[in-house]
Amino acid sequence: MRQVLNPSAGPGAGAAAVLTGLGTWLPPHRVTNGDLCDRLDTSDEWIRERIGIVERRRADPAVSTGDMAVEAASRAMASAGVAHVDAVLLATTTPDHRCPATAPWVAHRLGLGPVAAFDVTAGCSGFLHAGAVAAGLLAAGTARRVLVVGAETMSAVIDPDDRATAPIFGDGAGAAVLEAGPRRLDGALGPVVWGSDGSLADAIVVPAGGTRERHRRPVSPGDVYVRMRGNEVFRHAVRRMTRAARDAAAAAGWELSEVDRLIAHQANHRINAAVADALGIPRGDAPSNIHEVGNTAAASLPLLLADAADRGDLKPGHKVLLVAFGSGLAWAATTLVWPSGLSPRR
Ligand code: UT7
Repeated sequence: MRQVLNPSAGPGAGAAAVLTGLGTWLPPHRVTNGDLCDRLDTSDEWIRERIGIVERRRADPAVSTGDMAVEAASRAMASAGVAHVDAVLLATTTPDHRCPATAPWVAHRLGLGPVAAFDVTAGCSGFLHAGAVAAGLLAAGTARRVLVVGAETMSAVIDPDDRATAPIFGDGAGAAVLEAGPRRLDGALGPVVWGSDGSLADAIVVPAGGTRERHRRPVSPGDVYVRMRGNEVFRHAVRRMTRAARDAAAAAGWELSEVDRLIAHQANHRINAAVADALGIPRGDAPSNIHEVGNTAAASLPLLLADAADRGDLKPGHKVLLVAFGSGLAWAATTLVWPSGLSPRR
């Protein structure tokens, strides 16, 4: 059953979550399809055509998810022109440690003092899940300003010899500042539509490292890496993203024909073409940066928002429909009207 979280509908509500700043950070090292072909039985053509990726970034082994999160977050705060937030939510599937969460360290490095800080694990839809949690905190008056970060070191959990996953994923970080404000303001997040299907938990999984497989010791080397049933995930991605996006538009009171831009998680250009087609949104209205960064999981949406804004693909007043899908399986979608005066920091 679908669930709708409407930030303006709860008791004591009134405040919406308004996007006021965006920041990103990408590791400088680029890995081209050609670089992967040296090691894998694949080709530049296959990766371009079947996924849409030309290159992705890889973090230096000395750089962690937390390090990238700090860089993106400090840029987002500069973009918003703020020096303090009340909470830090870090969406990631590749935290610095299994314990503790990475967000408190990020908050510490940002010099934010003893603010609330925690990680949100919802795979590639983690950034929107964290945004939904932030919207709830802002609506309830628990916080006035929240930093939402999506950061991933996917290269740490990808088997470099697995052609089914190695070409897909990339590293990077993006962050947004969300502030309490009137719902009618441009930049205010609309109702969030989200959901999960744990019956497909093993469709994208890192088998070892948690409690489920701890009786199997020693773990086989491949079990520390992501395993994905790509084709099955593809089909679910199209179905779930289409429905969540449609429901989020409806919850915002929008006709799909009014949507100016579809901002969709960058997993595969064929997934997003299918979703756009199913929604009746022209493919050209769905900006993409997968060719440059690959699938950066929880970092994907803020990286795409910043790229699209910089390229002029997002203009003030545009009705923007956001949707993401990934491991869990989990998905989320929401809306916003693109605000004027927001300039991402890179
Ligand atoms: O971000 C989180 C959510 N993740 C996703 O949404 C990912 C969704 N899945 C996908 O994007 C696609 O399923 C993949 C890109 C992972 C795979 O593409 P596909 O078109 O679904 O390929 P497939 O798995 O059905 O495999 C088709 C063929 C197979 O060969 P045979 O059995 O037909 O001879 C594969 O072995 O393509 C082969 N193949 C490759 N060939 C060259 C699989 N990967 C590669 C490769 N290079 N890298």
